[in-house]
Amino acid sequence: MGVAKRKVLVTGVAGFIGSNLADRLVREGYQVTGVDDLSAGILEQVPGEVDFHKADIRSPKLAELFEGVDVVFHLAAKNCVSDCQLRPYETADVNILGTVNIFEAARTAGVRRVVYAESSAIYEGTKSLPTPETDFTPQTFYAISKAADHLFAKAYQSFCGMKMVGLRYLNVYGPRQDYRRAVPPVMSAFIINLLTGREPRIFGDGAKRRDFIHVDDVNDFHLLCIESEGVVNGVFNLGSGVNHSIQEIYDLTCELLGTKVAPQYLPDVPGEALANLGDITRARSVGWKPRVNLESGLRGLIEYIRTEIAAGNVAGAGTLQKPVTEDDSVRV
Ligand SMILES: NC(=O)c1ccc[n+]([C@@H]2O[C@H](COP(=O)([O-])OP(=O)(O)OC[C@H]3O[C@@H](n4cnc5c(N)ncnc54)[C@H](O)[C@@H]3O)[C@@H](O)[C@H]2O)c1
Repeated sequence: MGVAKRKVLVTGVAGFIGSNLADRLVREGYQVTGVDDLSAGILEQVPGEVDFHKADIRSPKLAELFEGVDVVFHLAAKNCVSDCQLRPYETADVNILGTVNIFEAARTAGVRRVVYAESSAIYEGTKSLPTPETDFTPQTFYAISKAADHLFAKAYQSFCGMKMVGLRYLNVYGPRQDYRRAVPPVMSAFIINLLTGREPRIFGDGAKRRDFIHVDDVNDFHLLCIESEGVVNGVFNLGSGVNHSIQEIYDLTCELLGTKVAPQYLPDVPGEALANLGDITRARSVGWKPRVNLESGLRGLIEYIRTEIAAGNVAGAGTLQKPVTEDDSVRV
């Protein structure tokens, strides 16, 4: 009989990245405990094998779930940039105090390693592309909350001897990307609109460039974080190494769908960076590299959305959650 794999706890397990990670961990034989308050997550996305707890990351009662946990992946966050701009207090409460509550529970339980989500939004004011991890130019309340998490993690490392790994995702895409938002992430929005006969919309002229990384690639790095010594106490950009303009994404989506519809160009969203691109030298140096090319990743997303449409799930797009402002079309 094989040795039972260790226990891993995932916060934000009902969300896009968390549910994909949980699937992968279950497949690899880990025992997974999942936490999510379902404020944005979807219960049906959580694999049945997960020991799921509907709970807020700010709850003091969470600590008991950390007993016997080997590694924590802390992904839960309030992460809609425009919504965070409208609600700075709540953003700080969930993203900073919630994160400290998770770090504290992990410390008390003697968890071996904590892997937590920062964001490339920390670079939103940067002048250097590709951006190395040494940059630190957060501007919005969301990015500042992630920057604060970074500093708290450093302090837990220094003063409590904890092993922490911070992940700065670029624009993650793939199945279960949250298309239910009032304005879904850009790829999902294009696909949904093109498949359902609604007019595709581009905010600005389509020249903004984004570094898109597939969720399977991100999960490769997550898996590496469980055992690799090279990642301990590091912070890593997880991007693809290239960026693409929104127009290019639109054109490729049309090509893959075999359609040609002119998008509607709407006024630009003020304050959004013209480009992002992560320097992934550091992540590569610990043995990781992105494997999914944009075309096959986009094909997979199209298939996922087709299935969701067939299941009748997409009709409610934009109605299942509180509407947010229009500037959520491209998020970092
Ligand atoms: N998706 C991206 O491109 C991207 C880019 C950079 C950073 N990130 C970060 O990665 C993490 C995961 O992102 P995602 O895209 O999967 O987001 P998501 O919104 O799909 O998942 C986040 C999950 O956290 C849960 N949550 C929110 N507040 C909570 C609370 N107070 N208590 C418990 N659960 C709560 C939500 O219900 C949701 O299921 C987040 O920390 C996000 O900031 C994501």
